[in-house]
Amino acid sequence: MTRHLLSISDLSAAEFTEVLDRSEDPAPQPVLSGKGVALVFEHPSSRTRNAAEMAVVQLGGHPLSMAGAEIGLDQRETAEDVARVLAGYHGLIGARVARHTMLERMRVALDAHGTAAPLVNLLSDREHPTQALADVLTIRQLLGGTEGRVVTFVGDANNVCRSLAGAAALSGMQLRVASPPGYELQRDDLAWAEALGAEPALFSSPLEAARGCDAVYTDVWAGMGQQDEAWARRRAFAGYTVDERLLAEAAPHAVVLHCLPAHRGEEITAGVIDGPRSAVWKQAENRLHAMRGLFSFLLGAADPLPAASAAAAGT
Ligand code: CP
Repeated sequence: MTRHLLSISDLSAAEFTEVLDRSEDPAPQPVLSGKGVALVFEHPSSRTRNAAEMAVVQLGGHPLSMAGAEIGLDQRETAEDVARVLAGYHGLIGARVARHTMLERMRVALDAHGTAAPLVNLLSDREHPTQALADVLTIRQLLGGTEGRVVTFVGDANNVCRSLAGAAALSGMQLRVASPPGYELQRDDLAWAEALGAEPALFSSPLEAARGCDAVYTDVWAGMGQQDEAWARRRAFAGYTVDERLLAEAAPHAVVLHCLPAHRGEEITAGVIDGPRSAVWKQAENRLHAMRGLFSFLLGAADPLPAASAAAAGT
């Protein structure tokens, strides 16, 4: 059965750890040798596109990135037809889409068609699972592990936050989320994370949420497709800036995370994101390593991580 990754919950806790281990494998198997990978973007991307393309190259394959409008998802032809056609050329398909339901339709079409190409969510309105893998990889590297660590997310409980909630649950961390009214994680999100291992704790006060935590995480207040809400969101999120005062509440060793792009002076101050506790550039680089680890897992799930590589990666 072909493995896809539309949600971080498509991985078990053990598989999640295996993807992180594969991300640190210094000698990955060229599982994409002689194969192409189709990367479709309905929205712009810097990190995800670069990370995915270079991960493909490092696994011996050839990446082909396309704008959504270029192939006309649900315009020129149905997303199902696009998926079936791309699977005929490529060993893996990645897609960044406005609506998560489009990814689900593509997955159903691929499974019914009996293709071997995994489908990977490169960001949807519901989740950003490849970001969450890089986030936890960064925490694991910088804090020496994940078990029992406390991560505080400040801001809109959006797709990034939702995948982080699942990833935290799968990796033994406690997630706290501080959001203004109307922008919190919903009841079904909490139940979903709890089923994966741990329910996030919700706060209205960002200072309270940050108290003693090991990592502080934020994201833009108005994401893709929400630019017309930017003014209203700036008002709603007043007081939710990750600044020096908030960071002072965190543990002395705490690191700062941001999935980027960042708006200095809105969700985070320049002093924090460019300061000594910022792990943001490491986190951005880890998008590549996590992407490589994920592709390696999806395409080589039958082949265990070689013992020598696992030892070299410190696993
Ligand atoms: N964090 C992230 O997904 O960045 P891009 O939108 O540039 O891919």
